Amino acid sequence: MQSDKPAAARKDSHLELALDPRTRSGGENGFDRISFTHCALPEVRLAAIDLSTEFLGYRLGAPLMIGAMTGGTKRADQINHALAGVAEDQLIALAVGSQRAALEAGQTARRLRDLAPHIPIIGNLGGVQLAQSGGLDLARAAIDDLQADAIAIHLNPLQEAVQPEGETDWTGVKSAIAALVKNAAVPVIVKEVGAGINAILAAELFDMGVTAVDVAGFGGTNWARIEAARRDGDAEIFAPFFDWGMPTVDCLRTVCRACPGQLVIASGGVRHGLDAAKAIRLGATMVSAAGPMLAHLVADDSDLDAPKLQDFVTGWKQQMSIALFLTGAPNLAAFGGVEMRFDEDMIPPCKAGS
Ligand SMILES: Cc1cc2nc3c(=O)[nH]c(=O)nc-3n(C[C@H](O)[C@H](O)[C@H](O)COP(=O)(O)O)c2cc1C
Repeated sequence: MQSDKPAAARKDSHLELALDPRTRSGGENGFDRISFTHCALPEVRLAAIDLSTEFLGYRLGAPLMIGAMTGGTKRADQINHALAGVAEDQLIALAVGSQRAALEAGQTARRLRDLAPHIPIIGNLGGVQLAQSGGLDLARAAIDDLQADAIAIHLNPLQEAVQPEGETDWTGVKSAIAALVKNAAVPVIVKEVGAGINAILAAELFDMGVTAVDVAGFGGTNWARIEAARRDGDAEIFAPFFDWGMPTVDCLRTVCRACPGQLVIASGGVRHGLDAAKAIRLGATMVSAAGPMLAHLVADDSDLDAPKLQDFVTGWKQQMSIALFLTGAPNLAAFGGVEMRFDEDMIPPCKAGS
């Protein structure tokens, strides 16, 4: 099949624009409104804090994931290979970006499985593409190509509405997800890309048999801003939508409350390990970050600096451990019961970790 040149160029320009600080939402994720009750006598050893958790059949070193970003161009593949190396070393999960263009161009991302045999790898397709003719076969091909442990379907109506070549017929996406859940050989994850998933939709998705919902809320990578930056002359029409979306913490609070016991992934503007710890205490099973991982991998001269990303992930783990230490929790299960407030409201205990 012919390579989809416009899609490839778009992917590379997304990578470049996502690194521009002007395309991040910054500050509105809600995490700063959360505080823990400090424990002055923790009775635990910081070095012995256990962040390990089970996810998709793998034992991970921490409930962390490198979020879906890219694949399918030379640059994108280099980035994915570097991300896979870091994720494998750190024993954290890895998600890839949409596989559609690469698969349609006859390319493979198979090498990622060899680079990362001990961690979950999550494939990716857009909800709109899944709903188009041949979508189910494309999803099967995406899973097979990566030997993926799960497939994530992304919902990105805001991005598509602002994107110059955006796909704006969203009819049939829900039934396509339901059909995928029935037919896929692996668990199905549904995610947003930075505008958030609300509790009603999350409950509906879990009822359909979706295994996990990644809320991917507002506060980090901002697709309205990224796509507007790619437009020619008419970007101001979209300016009122630059702050559209539900803050990640609002999504987490409502989704975790409405869907107890379900697998919720937190993402969207998670800045460091303390934010990640807050997300886990709110009830998320895993925490994912995309833009910050990319920013720490790509150096100023555009070279890839995997050791810098290694240090960044190690730092997140340290910050999470300190959050547990300062609340007196030796592991994630105990951490689910520590005292935490949103503004003045106490947040009820959750079942963190496994
Ligand atoms: C460069 C880049 C490309 C992305 N491409 C995809 C994609 O193909 N599929 C997808 O589901 N999400 C994609 N995302 C969205 C992320 O997975 C994530 O949901 C979003 O960026 C919010 O997380 P963050 O604030 O940590 O970046 C992309 C993000 C970035 C930064």
